[in-house]
Amino acid sequence: MKKEVTIAASILTANFLSLKDDLLNLQKAGINWIHFDVMDHHFVDNLSFGAKILSDVCRFNANINVDCHMMVKITTKKVYDYLKPFIILPQVKTITLHYEALTPEHLKQFLEWKNPGFKKGIAINPNTPITKIYHLLEHLDTILIMSVPPGAGGQIFLNSTIEKIKNLVKHIDNSFPHLTIAIDGGINNLTASDCISAGANYLVAGSYLLNSGNSIKNQVAMLTNYEK
Ligand code: DX5
Ligand code: ZN
Repeated sequence: MKKEVTIAASILTANFLSLKDDLLNLQKAGINWIHFDVMDHHFVDNLSFGAKILSDVCRFNANINVDCHMMVKITTKKVYDYLKPFIILPQVKTITLHYEALTPEHLKQFLEWKNPGFKKGIAINPNTPITKIYHLLEHLDTILIMSVPPGAGGQIFLNSTIEKIKNLVKHIDNSFPHLTIAIDGGINNLTASDCISAGANYLVAGSYLLNSGNSIKNQVAMLTNYEK
């Protein structure tokens, strides 16, 4: 049986002076998800971009779907106030917050948020055991397993990720059929195939698509070749 697998492009390592070309080439290559890596220089060392750039991206391609990967410590009392500039953009379909970055109060607000208008995700770092989030699964749409330490693109995929995916799949044992299992970091044609075999159904790829020196079309074709 062929599995439905979504490929999302991380634009973190794009050259922003030619972002328009990359967005167009991704679109032409059939990529209709952008993974938007927000970094706050607090939860991670790096500082990336915020809602203004995202709104420009969404204006350029109104049909794009966006998942926001929030590598941030929320600094407002209400999670809603922090996320508002992102979630008012209709293209934002998923918001993923980091398990390690959330206070118990913020986590509670996020999980209890009724009809938020986006899918809820929780991301976990490579050194966070997958068992830590098992009790949250019933409230979530997505688990994003980091396959590199968060904070930078272009890192090497950690092989321990595969065992983590397998353990999650075994644990859920068909009980959450809607759950997206997303993998982020170091995805290339080989690691993609391993993640899919282990049970992942959403892969984030950044530098493999945008910084290889080959055309985006070519890279997308190589990445989606996994079914052969
Ligand atoms: C890392 C980010 C990733 C990263 C993916 O902190 O969350 O989304 O940009 O980039 P590559 O595919 O280059 O590892
Ligand atoms: Zn990411």
